[in-house]
Amino acid sequence: MDQRKKTTLLTLRKLKDENKKAVYLTSYDYPIALLADRAGVDMILVGDSLGMTTLGFKDTLKVTMDDMVRHASAVTRAATNSFVIGDMPFMSYQTSNRDAIINAGRLVGEAGCDAVKCEGGIRVVERVRAMVNAGILVQGHLGLTPQNAAQMGGYRVQGKTKESYQQLLKDALALEEAGVFSILLEGMPSQVAEKIKNHLSIPVYGIGAGNKVDGQLIIVHDLIGLFEQFTPKFVKRYAEAGKVIEEAIIHYCDDVRKEKFPTKKYFYEISKEDLKKLDQ
Ligand code: KIV
Repeated sequence: MDQRKKTTLLTLRKLKDENKKAVYLTSYDYPIALLADRAGVDMILVGDSLGMTTLGFKDTLKVTMDDMVRHASAVTRAATNSFVIGDMPFMSYQTSNRDAIINAGRLVGEAGCDAVKCEGGIRVVERVRAMVNAGILVQGHLGLTPQNAAQMGGYRVQGKTKESYQQLLKDALALEEAGVFSILLEGMPSQVAEKIKNHLSIPVYGIGAGNKVDGQLIIVHDLIGLFEQFTPKFVKRYAEAGKVIEEAIIHYCDDVRKEKFPTKKYFYEISKEDLKKLDQ
């Protein structure tokens, strides 16, 4: 029996207080979430990166609330110990406080997520406040925020200038004041992430934001070698699952074409007597 306890807000807070790093990983479906949960990650993000890793879109913008609810439900069915965070997709919260509450409510109520994440700082702070006031745990997300890639001129490292750093800091402080339980920093120099973290009391996690933050997120398809389109500098590949899967399928194709599969071991058969009866 699994002896691990369900990760909660208090567990995450304790990890920070004890200066221990939190392990954060994305998942989008039942089998990978089961493995991630079993392997002992603290948090799982059902990211809208779903659009690129799993649905084959070129960016995250076409992902819908229904996509998120369906995939997040599969993840929460598998991940009984990890703290599961559902991502708010493009235009699910930007439009109004009401939309933000209804859609965040779907991720928590229908899909069973422990919290939601949304991108942006001061410009979404009223949405964040509304969700928090409705009783929903919200994680902020600042830096290289993929939903705003067009406005940023592409997927570019953020916070490299005084102006950019100071805006990020203002955004982070505004999110903390609005009640987010943590902030995720993406795509910025390690020193910048550290400076922002030092101004906040809530946990600050990072993806491509160096090693001074309270925990690390990585996209599972990058980690296991299932995403081929591009590999950012911050990705460490721990396995080549794509190659293993492709080799298995090549082997299967070969076996079928050469009639090496299925062999008797893989047949269902009836006895000769029962066979005769079929035509009687
Ligand atoms: O959708 C996602 O996986 C994310 C991460 C890239 C931070 O938002």
